[in-house]
Amino acid sequence: MNASSPLIEVRGLKKYFGSSDRPVRAVDDVSFAIQPGETLGLVGESGSGKSTIGRTVLRLLDSTAGEVRYRGQNLAELSAERMRRLRAKLQIIFQDPYASLNPKMRIGAILAEALSTHGLARSRAEREARIAELLTTVGLRPEHADRFPHEFSGGQRQRIGVARALAVEPEFIVADEPLSALDVSIQSQVINLLADLRERFKLTMLFISHDLDVVEYLCDRVVVLYLGKVMEIAPTEALFGQPLHPYTQALLVASPKPDPLLPSTHVALQGDIPSPVAPPSGCVFRTRCPHAIDACAQQVPPLAEVSPGRWRACIRPETMTQAAA
Ligand SMILES: Nc1ncnc2c1ncn2[C@@H]1O[C@H](COP(=O)(O)OP(=O)(O)OP(=O)(O)O)[C@@H](O)[C@H]1O
Ligand SMILES: [Mg+2]
Repeated sequence: MNASSPLIEVRGLKKYFGSSDRPVRAVDDVSFAIQPGETLGLVGESGSGKSTIGRTVLRLLDSTAGEVRYRGQNLAELSAERMRRLRAKLQIIFQDPYASLNPKMRIGAILAEALSTHGLARSRAEREARIAELLTTVGLRPEHADRFPHEFSGGQRQRIGVARALAVEPEFIVADEPLSALDVSIQSQVINLLADLRERFKLTMLFISHDLDVVEYLCDRVVVLYLGKVMEIAPTEALFGQPLHPYTQALLVASPKPDPLLPSTHVALQGDIPSPVAPPSGCVFRTRCPHAIDACAQQVPPLAEVSPGRWRACIRPETMTQAAA
């Protein structure tokens, strides 16, 4: 594979829940690609479909339509056996470190289980050495292997979750709000840990978060999601410096530290996100968009590349110029 082929490619992905006559359109025709070594941020309000995308990409959930390719291979076409072997390469780190660790198992056993599931470190000595190494890698101590999850702080538990994901030498990690259950005081430690490990192991990541500061710090590019649809995709610096979609513009104004350089024409979001059971016609954002016109209700705006690497789904050219003003 050459340098420009993506590690992960998502095309026309849909995930609907519930009855087929009134489905919850959690993810509705989403496409993006992630290059090897890249960290792609996925942002959007609660309920916009971020976790559903993360799980569908890893095939922890079946998709309704569309495809996910890993190194060019369509995951849906792999045999159960090949998918099982590939599992080790594709890992997830969850939001709540405590809920994802079995309270009755010692940390050493939790890590040993991850190793043995994928046939790694078969002998006892090998396994113990690997577990000690993993704990050290995430900033814990080898003797922590003998402890139970409740004997750790939230930040330490999140490190254990990271160690478990790393145990199987993954290439691609979905981190689904890995920081939001943590105290602010320890969030930065875990962020730095993720950043270090990413460099060291050349990991490719899909980083799901609604903390825009963290996304700005950690991600190379960002996908902005609203009601199951992609509104904008851009390199991180470009997105935060000059958001091109009215939804991104509103998100940045609403974030705790709005950028003083953002034009004052940008307005914070009003009202709630509509139900994904009955999304607005045309542009799903139009009911909350300060720039919406009648035409926005008529057609679904295509995600178009408006300058190299910058994509947005909006039919109104003037919203882009306002951003540049
Ligand atoms: N198993 C399910 N059955 C029915 N609806 C679901 C299911 N899982 C998710 N949904 C719905 O799909 C939509 C997207 O949910 P999802 O969890 O992906 O959002 P999210 O962006 O991760 O939100 P949050 O920021 O709160 O984690 C929501 O409307 C949610 O209620
Ligand atoms: Mg979620």
